[in-house]
Amino acid sequence: MRLCRFLLSSKLPPQVEYYAKFSPSPLSIKQFLDFGRNNACERTSYIFLQKELPVRLANTLKEVHLLPQNLLERPSVKLVQSWYMQSFIQLMEYEDINPDEDVLYDFLNVLIQVRNRHNDVVPTMAQGVIEYKEMYGFDPSVSSNIQYFLDRFYMNRISFRMLINQHTLLFGEDMNQTHPKHIGSIDPACNVPEVVEDAYQTAKMLCEQYYLSAPELQITEFNAKAPGRPLQVVYVPSHLFHMLFELFKNSMRATVERHGDETEGLPPVKTLVTLGKEDLSIRISDLGGGVPMRKIDRLFNYMYSTAPKPSLEPSRAVPLAGFGYGLPISRLYARYFQGDLNLFSMEGVGTDAVIHLKAVSSESFERLPVYNKSAWRHYKNAAEADDWSNPSRGPRDASNYKSN
Ligand SMILES: Nc1ncnc2c1ncn2[C@@H]1O[C@H](COP(=O)(O)OP(=O)(O)OP(=O)(O)O)[C@@H](O)[C@H]1O
Ligand SMILES: [Mg+2]
Repeated sequence: MRLCRFLLSSKLPPQVEYYAKFSPSPLSIKQFLDFGRNNACERTSYIFLQKELPVRLANTLKEVHLLPQNLLERPSVKLVQSWYMQSFIQLMEYEDINPDEDVLYDFLNVLIQVRNRHNDVVPTMAQGVIEYKEMYGFDPSVSSNIQYFLDRFYMNRISFRMLINQHTLLFGEDMNQTHPKHIGSIDPACNVPEVVEDAYQTAKMLCEQYYLSAPELQITEFNAKAPGRPLQVVYVPSHLFHMLFELFKNSMRATVERHGDETEGLPPVKTLVTLGKEDLSIRISDLGGGVPMRKIDRLFNYMYSTAPKPSLEPSRAVPLAGFGYGLPISRLYARYFQGDLNLFSMEGVGTDAVIHLKAVSSESFERLPVYNKSAWRHYKNAAEADDWSNPSRGPRDASNYKSN
């Protein structure tokens, strides 16, 4: 096919240019839910995805091309790019095709192929960043571009996996067998403390495997919206599980490493879950010794944190730390539906990690990167001078003022 020659080329095909001119259309959880509930129509979903998936892929492909050339040339980054091109080309085969039974059947299988093809995007990109750092060192302006890019790139990936999952779960063969009340990947009555408990238990298993002990969980819930009622929201439980699991792993590791030798045992990890009119909030507090304020931002930085994955060694037990992407990716999950994730630490004592999510499903719209002039400008202007004073870059004789 004509488009295939672009697979190995560094140029983008005209179709990518065309689709990148459209902005992605964000959906709210309520829209996903309403669509899935009311006799979901596979044709309608096909017609939406037939355009929306190429738009989201094209928007991100345009941005990939703004990365530093040296990074683009890393074999793992080239591999990731080729996956995106393959998926784009595969979707283009449906560009003007009306959906009959066979087309719908094939399309659903193509979506599964696309999803599987992109399974390893995160570790493969991380590998590219590791190689780049090893070869060219750490440059703050490149790091800021990579940070900006990867946040948007991984957010885009979360979003198109969400779209694909909704379609395949609603219309595929194994639809909703495990969770008959879910609408695709959405639980209309997601019991948050249950997901907390589940994520804690899974992290605890890992922690015990690695350290032979794990801190207890103390969970408190407060439903301020409807006192006494179960604490439920409309949400994607797998996203919530992902964030909580990452935070528990971090808290457990810090707690065991700080208190593992003490005879009094490990201090518990305390979790407070609250539901208000607007926000669902979850705070996970540990006494794992904390992190100095200066380092907090770095914990979310892909280039700072990227370390060769220890678990690549097959003989070792699964460790509680990998690439260092636990926090930045979890924050993307929180932000995806207009929430956020923050870390507040008191050095020497412990850390509070707080997740905020929208409590109302009509307000939780997808937060999607858009490729446009201001995104483009971001990559081009990153090397400009800082617009706040920097103590290490003051005039040389400034020290005279201090001694006088
Ligand atoms: N609760 C915490 N207490 C102390 N340090 C923490 C805590 N949470 C995170 N950190 C520090 O932040 C770093 C980055 O955390 P992050 O979860 O992003 O990556 P990781 O745990 O190193 O690896 P990964 O999560 O990818 O397996 C950790 O290595 C740890 O040094
Ligand atoms: Mg972690």
